[in-house]
Amino acid sequence: MKNSWIKSPVDLGAASASFVTEFSPESEVKSAQLLVSAIGIFQASLNGEKLGKGVLNPGFTSYNNRVQFMTYDVTSLLKAQNNISITAGNGWAVGHMGLDTSEKVFSDHYAITAKLQVVYADGSEQQIVTDENWKVYSSPIEYSDIYHGETVNLMHQVKLLGNAVKDEASYKFNLVAQIGPDIVENERLAPIQLIVTPKGERVIDFGQNMAGYVEFKIKGKAGEKIVISHAEVLDADGNFYNENYRGAKNCITYILDGNDNCFKPTFSFQGFRYIRLDEYPDVEVDLNNIRAIAVHSQMARIGRFSCGNEKINQLYHNTIWGQKSNYLDIPTDCPQRDERLGWTGDAQAFCRTAALNYDVRKFFEKWLGDLRAEQREDGGVYGTCPECFSSQNHTLVSAAWGDVVTIAPWELYRAYGDAKVLNDNFSMMKKWVDYMHSAGDEEFLWLGGAHYGDWLAMDAGEDNYSGATSADFIASAFFAHSTDLVIRAGEVLGENVDHYRQLHKNVLKSFREYFMEPGVLLENPDESAKGYITQTCLVLILYFNLCKEEERPLLQQKLVKLIGDFGDRMVTGFVGTPYILHVLSDAGNLKLAYKLLLSEKTPSWLYSVTHGATTMWEHWNSIKEDGSFWSVNMNSFNHYAYGSVCDWLYGVAAGITTTEEGAGYRKFTLAPKPCRELKHINCALDTVNGRIESRWYYKNDEIYFEFTVPSGAQAIITLPNGYTETVGGGVYHYTVKE
Ligand code: BGC
Repeated sequence: MKNSWIKSPVDLGAASASFVTEFSPESEVKSAQLLVSAIGIFQASLNGEKLGKGVLNPGFTSYNNRVQFMTYDVTSLLKAQNNISITAGNGWAVGHMGLDTSEKVFSDHYAITAKLQVVYADGSEQQIVTDENWKVYSSPIEYSDIYHGETVNLMHQVKLLGNAVKDEASYKFNLVAQIGPDIVENERLAPIQLIVTPKGERVIDFGQNMAGYVEFKIKGKAGEKIVISHAEVLDADGNFYNENYRGAKNCITYILDGNDNCFKPTFSFQGFRYIRLDEYPDVEVDLNNIRAIAVHSQMARIGRFSCGNEKINQLYHNTIWGQKSNYLDIPTDCPQRDERLGWTGDAQAFCRTAALNYDVRKFFEKWLGDLRAEQREDGGVYGTCPECFSSQNHTLVSAAWGDVVTIAPWELYRAYGDAKVLNDNFSMMKKWVDYMHSAGDEEFLWLGGAHYGDWLAMDAGEDNYSGATSADFIASAFFAHSTDLVIRAGEVLGENVDHYRQLHKNVLKSFREYFMEPGVLLENPDESAKGYITQTCLVLILYFNLCKEEERPLLQQKLVKLIGDFGDRMVTGFVGTPYILHVLSDAGNLKLAYKLLLSEKTPSWLYSVTHGATTMWEHWNSIKEDGSFWSVNMNSFNHYAYGSVCDWLYGVAAGITTTEEGAGYRKFTLAPKPCRELKHINCALDTVNGRIESRWYYKNDEIYFEFTVPSGAQAIITLPNGYTETVGGGVYHYTVKE
């Protein structure tokens, strides 16, 4: 679509405006399409009807590189006379976004562009594009901001502000047809109760932490107001608590006009489980007319898991809702406070699980494109994408964050078996590895630089953010890992990766010399010349294959000892946690893996579950044993990173894992690892090669297995007693003595 940006003739700040034109077809219409985009957020309607299912259009992209436009087929909607109206608000592009809230990162005003393309039955064509003939009207949405919320005033007297003005400033934006899935309204949750808190505040509990907004149907008196605040949790006394939103106000105001009104935000969303009624009309609160609407990108659910342990089921549920809340157009860290940013490290940690829960191909196609667009010339990848920080104040080019550019394409390839994702991103993957190669003082290690570390690990004291694992260690370990992924991707693509093979050898050699020899790491579990040896150090060495085969047993023992030293608990952060159970189960230490999975002592996955979590917490200790909060600053109750444990539930507990040569589950292993405490497992995965099912249950001293292998696929079944066979499509039953 060609740029034809227009803006309001007056500066409206954070108030919305509607851009309107009339259109009458000249003769019989064969087809008509309306293409629309905004710098900001838009909602388009034709003859008063909202177009499309999508909300919060055109979504969140790396605006400086590309802005999506949406296409609506309006053929059947056109009448003799038509009114096209596009209402716009600030949204991600113009409102407060990123931690540097002093500036509008992408533009200081919203603008829209649209084109109606009509093809008549006689073959002739007509185009209506946004220009100075469009009228601009004020809107009842008098204020909107992604972080701060929205004010809708139905008493607002809509007035003509004048004709639209051509917006030269927006011509720099590059338009692309929609790539990602629509952002849509999904579940509608009824409140579970109206609470009057000890402070006397009226609070509605929806029973589920989520991202989206609240809809009210109400008839009040003209001028009466509904003002609501949002929160994820109540404090230890049962009072409303939202200090963890930091700078984000998340406040919604509706001003009633005396008619039957139905309200919900249009240009903002909130992360919440509770709302507080700060002002409410003088009528009884009717919970039947209040709903929380979950908003996220449209994705098909493909993974299902349940077992005989309700706490594990809740953990799984919390992960699913973590994904629903944070896959809102881009993979975000959290949906509520003044971030909601595409933090690359969080996305990296969670993407394998995400690709099993839902079909996320389209979702990542868009975001990986933004990552490609934002990768620096030198290959560096920032901590967030889209990067919303001013040029003086970028996020870090950090190990384990930037590595999303190798890990995400690889995981998508594994999950769906389509090499296109590798092909599309191969250059970006190589450039990132080349960046690491040239970063730091040592050629084959990444030493120095600023990193986020093993974010929120618990081994460096309670108030520490980066954990105890040396940043140099993490950076060099991920350097090796990403190089390995480039080699594997190159092999799939038939590319010559000899250079990366040699590089990988050199990195491994240097890694050993620097971090593991002369036997410091191997001999002394407590201290290292290059930094304290942590659980995460050992997990990375083992999971990324940074040691010699013969060294594995000793390193595994050390990991077990370190876990034991912390009272059989893991103290890993965002970097070590996704792999720790894999490393234990790969070594055959299922007992300890399940012990960690089932532990309820903090830090553990079930600690938050036993403390009432309905989504994953950011910090292991977000609510401490004494009921107080870990911090105000970094305490989201909806951060999915630790939900990465679910890939272990699918892949090891239920035992469904794709092979790399049969990526996309064309060829996969079925090697469940039962555990009495889980009683039974029911797991299904709708893969691109068909539906796979894995079930097991205990009966007396026997374990029953039932597998479904889709036709055309091949499964290597391995049972706990060592029995193994390779099978094709069909249903298979086995019984094994415990
Ligand atoms: C985010 C994290 C992110 C981190 C960088 C935080 O503010 O919420 O999830 O990865 O910064 O360490």
